Amino acid sequence: MCGIVGYCGPKAAAPVLLEGLKRLEYRGYDSAGLSVCVDSKVEIFKRAGKIHDLREVVPEDLPGTHGVGHTRWATHGEVTDKNAHPHVSADRNIAVVHNGIIENFSSLRSRLTEEGYVFESDTDSEVIAHLIQKFYQGDLERAVKQALGLLKGTYGVVCMHAGEPGVLVGARHGSPLLLGVGDNEMFLASDVTAVLAHTKQVIHLEDGEVVRVTAADYTATDLRDRKIEKEVETIGWELEEIEKNGYEHYMEKEIFEQPDSIFRAMQGRIDQENATGHLGGLNMSRGELLDVQRVRIIAAGTSYYAGMVGAYVLENMARVPAQAELASEIRYRNPIVERNTVYFAVSQSGETADTLSALRELQRKGARVLGICNVVGSSIPRESDGGVYIHSGPEIAVASTKAFTSQLTAFYLFTLLIARMRDMSLEAGVSFTKELARVPDTVREVLSRADEVRRVAERYYQARNFLFLGRGINYPVALEGALKLKEISYVHAEGYSAAEIKHGPIALINEETPSLFIVPDDGLRDKVISNMKEVKARRGPVIALGVDGDNELADIADDVLFVPKTDELLYPYLMVVPLQLFAYYAALKLGRNVDQPRNLAKSVTVE
Ligand code: M6R
Repeated sequence: MCGIVGYCGPKAAAPVLLEGLKRLEYRGYDSAGLSVCVDSKVEIFKRAGKIHDLREVVPEDLPGTHGVGHTRWATHGEVTDKNAHPHVSADRNIAVVHNGIIENFSSLRSRLTEEGYVFESDTDSEVIAHLIQKFYQGDLERAVKQALGLLKGTYGVVCMHAGEPGVLVGARHGSPLLLGVGDNEMFLASDVTAVLAHTKQVIHLEDGEVVRVTAADYTATDLRDRKIEKEVETIGWELEEIEKNGYEHYMEKEIFEQPDSIFRAMQGRIDQENATGHLGGLNMSRGELLDVQRVRIIAAGTSYYAGMVGAYVLENMARVPAQAELASEIRYRNPIVERNTVYFAVSQSGETADTLSALRELQRKGARVLGICNVVGSSIPRESDGGVYIHSGPEIAVASTKAFTSQLTAFYLFTLLIARMRDMSLEAGVSFTKELARVPDTVREVLSRADEVRRVAERYYQARNFLFLGRGINYPVALEGALKLKEISYVHAEGYSAAEIKHGPIALINEETPSLFIVPDDGLRDKVISNMKEVKARRGPVIALGVDGDNELADIADDVLFVPKTDELLYPYLMVVPLQLFAYYAALKLGRNVDQPRNLAKSVTVE
């Protein structure tokens, strides 16, 4: 969603801000702007559209060494120049960039209007600039705190004042903000990618914290002026990881990175000798693990589908009742928290508002919530009671790919751990861990067949409706395949259990609606084949995604793609990769903006 970058230091601020904004593009946005303090004046430049539109209006030699920048993903007010951030106070001395939603903006706006403040935009954020002006008496930090005290909702906010050159004030409540500590220069950003080219030293702000920043120093306090000691953390990501490195798109790069990212997720976590998983961050004793009687998984989007696979594996292998649920639903459902239940909050970004709120609600009710997250230091891992980092490296494309397969890895390892404490024999454990350890190589083999997927995708890319069908553990994979296709190609796609089509969706089948069936060589294979025949009998085009050696598929399906053979429970890894590629190649052929599909944001930090 929206992105923030702020800079103070010795360099000209505008190029630093523009570069930071470029790095934030992947989050999804529809307008951008920046403000730089020049000769005790706040200069503002903003444009609906892309960063290159903004570049065109920012003078190349703009002086000024401190400023703020923003990418906006519209919530209140249309996508226009005037609604883009930064917003300025009526006296034009204060510039503000804001992520989040101010829920009481309407009453604040009415009050400020009555007091004579004139609003230029339709946004909720603009009230912050006017409120700061109202309270300003020569101390920006003080005025920001007074203004924030009146806000209801969420914010990550950075402000500057023309009369205080070289000073930025940032604050966080429900929307991420971090401080990048450089060598005599400081950055404020909503996301580490905006500062990684300059520093790896960062401080994550917590909700309720305010930071006053100059090039050489910072102080962190709460809204009541109590000083807070903050720890500087070193980011483990490298700059190359956020570059395309020769690939045409981040999505393509991230799909092809999966042998490595899956390997990193399992590295040091498979105990071959005892055939079990080793997960140091769970913060659970052996006794507590043994007492687990139920697992519940909360997540959104692709992470939710990974959670559905996780639930299936947990029940099947560890014989522990497990269920995945949408975080957006559970948070308003007044959930019943039972004893000996472990909750997992699964999120690539660690910042998804629904998942974070569900986690907090569950914790309020006494639940133990573990995180399965990628972004180190993000809100969900910081607030959870323990968990697993999946170490995928930065995922930049809006469509999640490598995070999914690494989230699966976290679930397989956790399952192995508790299954081996229960009924799973050493022999069964050894055989499973061997196959699990081979996954990076088998995924590499699947990727080596990408051209076959491209050929099929290029044959079907013009279809306007698609069905993705799978069963058992591959049912969530079908859902994920449909999500991938719809989000980046804008082709309508539905994921269904193959068995369910006769209860309704089969009515959609005709010559123009292709169905992609996932057909592993498991106990449900023959059932899926029957479903395929039902579709064929109604002249629906069929693509089968089967396992090497399954020669019968070619007799039924119009096109067949194959993956190598593996353990029945590990097929989601191998089946999802061709579906990711299928979506990617179809979207390419349709000329879509693959990495930044319309209307979507990388991490959904508002409700
Ligand atoms: O960062 P998260 O994993 O919590 O994000 C959850 C969803 O917003 C995300 O998976 C979304 O559905 C992706 N665009 C899917 O590709």
